[in-house]
Amino acid sequence: MTCIVYSIYMHFTLQQLKLFESVSRLRSYTRAAEELCLTQPAVSIQIKRLEEQAGLPLFEKIGKQMLPTTAGKAVYAASLDILSRVDDLKNSIKELEGTVKGTLQLSVVSTAKYFLPKLLGAFLQKYPEVVPKLKFTNRARVKERLINNDDDFVIMGQIIEDDNLEAYPFLNNILGIVAPADHPLANKKNISVKELVNYRFLSREIGSGTRYVFDRLLEDNGVKIEPYMELGSSEALKQAVMAGLGITILSLHSVQLERDVNKLIVLDVQGFPMKRRWYAFHLKGRNLSLVARTFLDFILKESHHVLGEKYD
Ligand code: PGA
Repeated sequence: MTCIVYSIYMHFTLQQLKLFESVSRLRSYTRAAEELCLTQPAVSIQIKRLEEQAGLPLFEKIGKQMLPTTAGKAVYAASLDILSRVDDLKNSIKELEGTVKGTLQLSVVSTAKYFLPKLLGAFLQKYPEVVPKLKFTNRARVKERLINNDDDFVIMGQIIEDDNLEAYPFLNNILGIVAPADHPLANKKNISVKELVNYRFLSREIGSGTRYVFDRLLEDNGVKIEPYMELGSSEALKQAVMAGLGITILSLHSVQLERDVNKLIVLDVQGFPMKRRWYAFHLKGRNLSLVARTFLDFILKESHHVLGEKYD
């Protein structure tokens, strides 16, 4: 009988790879320890063991950051691959049991936070054993994660023309120019985009989908508006507009409550309200887990029912 000599293999544990992935991403033992609810010495001991197995240093400390060495980068790429396969394996085992349970990993543009939690809430009532992991960030970041295949699927406004992607439109996204109720343009009809130049305009950061739409509109109209202030979330923009700092473009789903109590109004600007769509995207050919397939199906079929006619 031939015996395999196991000692020639490296013995990495999954926990070490997870730790390694965290340290590489966060570039710090301390932050990785916080994320994984461990102590800093526990993290550094495990990384040391990993380095002993690899026979090479995996990190070098530059300034305050732990940066991966060339060997570290190779281990990082392998860790991502192994950890995602383990996740897939867990989900496949759940599928064999035939129940919709396990992790649902989604990245969603920040503006979608005004409707996605409600959809997810309704879904979880039906499938309580699903564990949602949501990342809310801007369009540029969501797109990056989509290309890296980091999520089951992602949700964004506006189509991306790309043959490598599968796109599923599921809701309307209506954008408008929002102002405080006492704004000088409040009662004016048919305001041209050019006229907006005369007023303070507040904008989302570059990388935001909402910003992208508005920049395209200005370009099409040959208008240049230098934002008076840039803010990193629609929530912050809303507060700034209510405080009288300026006007802005927002998805009208995000200002429903403020409009109901007349804290904000929508200006009658040419080309607005602008009708766009919300889409789910994943890479073509991606094998969706049962949980992801079931949630995608749910949002395609049930969104209007769950959210009501305001989203039609
Ligand atoms: P944003 O994206 O939240 O990054 O502005 C909105 C969109 O994609 O329409």
